Amino acid sequence: MKQATLHQLKVFEAAARHGSFTRAAEELFLTQPTVSMQVKQLTKAVGLPLFEQVGKRLYLTEAGQELFATCREIFEQLSQFEMKVADLKGLKQGQLRLAVITTAKYFIPRLLGPFCQLYPGIDISLQVTNHSGILERLKENLDDLYIVSQLPEHFDVNCHPFLENPLVVLAPSDHPLADEKNISLQRLSEEPFIVREPGSGTRTAVQKLFDDQGISLKVKLELGSNEAIKQAITGGLGISVLSRHTLTPEGAATKLTILDVEGFPISRHWYMIYPAGKQLSVVARTYFEYLMEAAKQIAEQTNDARPAP
Ligand code: PGA
Repeated sequence: MKQATLHQLKVFEAAARHGSFTRAAEELFLTQPTVSMQVKQLTKAVGLPLFEQVGKRLYLTEAGQELFATCREIFEQLSQFEMKVADLKGLKQGQLRLAVITTAKYFIPRLLGPFCQLYPGIDISLQVTNHSGILERLKENLDDLYIVSQLPEHFDVNCHPFLENPLVVLAPSDHPLADEKNISLQRLSEEPFIVREPGSGTRTAVQKLFDDQGISLKVKLELGSNEAIKQAITGGLGISVLSRHTLTPEGAATKLTILDVEGFPISRHWYMIYPAGKQLSVVARTYFEYLMEAAKQIAEQTNDARPAP
């Protein structure tokens, strides 16, 4: 078989499929004698007849049937290979548009570094905004993929959870409640509270917890950034509820502590979402798979990043 060529296999496959040299010739834009010659050479390479003529009909011999099955596998594999190469070519250039909620900015940029090294031809645009900002972008189909913590209610999306995003109560480490266990929500509500801006998913989740208990918060300050809130807590302006992921290793060195409060941490997840029916680009699909894979490592890293309670 070493002398057999891919071209001969193609000619043979067409002849076997049609049961006719003439029709194979038509399909391949060859002459009938050329098909006949190619099959003859292949037969010589195999060392056994591939076709037998009974009356006017052409039949595959046993060796012919085996070779026909083998050809199908070869051509299937080749076409898969071609698709992969096409994908790889697509990956060399392209744009990845990501929109992530504020807390995801604590790990997504870190993860983009290795991704860019793997795929240097990909340009990335990363939008960081709050929950309602993400919903706006989603509705306008501005990005390839979105990372959220709260699923949109009136919009059909494909949704893939990939990491926990617990909300914790943060206070300055010298806070009088710092060493208390199982602090009640009622007791917590006596503390001055710092909250995120309206439209924030964090704010909505906290509000819901207190509303469900019929307890109102003493809101002292409203700030539109997790980092600003952390600074305000350190500065003694009040306590707040933020994602545990906002506590980066650098953050652990600041003077913040997690309070032990009933109902906390509020359990949430990060989800990778995109509009239902949207056809992901090759680039987006590649990032999607990459992120899912990397999520485990991130989980370990963020555990290490928690400050001592
Ligand atoms: P936010 O998003 O910035 O809208 O609060 C964080 C979250 O929903 O967990």
